Amino acid sequence: MRRFENKVAVITGAATGIGRAAVARFASEGASVACLDIADDANEMSATAARDLGSDALAIHCDVRSLDDQEQAMATVLSRWGRVDVLVAAAGIFVGGPIADVPLERWSNINAVNLTGVLISNKVVAATMIDQGSGSIINIASMAAKTSWPDSAEYSATKSGVLGITRSVAMELGAHGITANAVCPGNTLTEMVREVAGQVGGRLGMTGDEWLAMRAEDTAMKRLADPSEIAGVIAFLASDDARYLTGQSIEVDGGIVLS
Ligand SMILES: NC(=O)c1ccc[n+]([C@@H]2O[C@H](COP(=O)([O-])OP(=O)(O)OC[C@H]3O[C@@H](n4cnc5c(N)ncnc54)[C@H](O)[C@@H]3O)[C@@H](O)[C@H]2O)c1
Repeated sequence: MRRFENKVAVITGAATGIGRAAVARFASEGASVACLDIADDANEMSATAARDLGSDALAIHCDVRSLDDQEQAMATVLSRWGRVDVLVAAAGIFVGGPIADVPLERWSNINAVNLTGVLISNKVVAATMIDQGSGSIINIASMAAKTSWPDSAEYSATKSGVLGITRSVAMELGAHGITANAVCPGNTLTEMVREVAGQVGGRLGMTGDEWLAMRAEDTAMKRLADPSEIAGVIAFLASDDARYLTGQSIEVDGGIVLS
């Protein structure tokens, strides 16, 4: 399938994990892709991989916490391609620990990346998408927005907030032909989940691998996700098949939230 010929996708958190898988998916389906991240070397690798798939891809240094960075990135995108059809706001971090010990600087920072970062990403594409009368916004939340577990108040709060942003943006921009949806991944085999496994498993007296095996057992499908499986749903949400689907949060979690 090449559903995104002549389309432009902007992807934050493009350097690794789910963002990188989304870059590859949009590139393989014909889109031009702007890869936004702070991890410059890895981000360039994502853009190179996209170019190898035939995409006109660009790596742009962008800290999603910064309005200036995001506005400059959008100016670069518009000067090169003149439009934005898809936003995938995937940049995110995980931090966690007992509520009694949460350092407020850590809370401020996870808010800045996971929540303010998503808000700014949505803000900077809005005017262009309104002018075009079309666009697909896909914000990456988490199953942590739908359920929760100990020691993750900060992460859960930011991801729940992403659902709030998504619903409001969907209501506001729908009349302009723009959809906004959230994807809520379950445990997906990326650097982030391996780091989480080490931290959370350690607090439970398990190795990271043991914690990941336990999480896999908690899913209906008895395995964790590959990033490409999240990217497939992201691409569906950006496709014409999803043009009447907006304001939703789609769990792509192998059934873990059901358990
Ligand atoms: N992996 C999982 O199990 C899982 C589950 C649920 C939700 N998520 C969410 O999916 C998204 C992608 O996570 P991932 O697992 O691919 O993690 P990852 O760590 O592999 O990728 C996150 C990317 O975001 C980038 N990033 C971090 N801070 C940034 C900043 N300030 N500005 C720009 N880029 C920044 C990182 O450099 C990295 O490339 C995140 O929002 C995460 O919360 C992941």
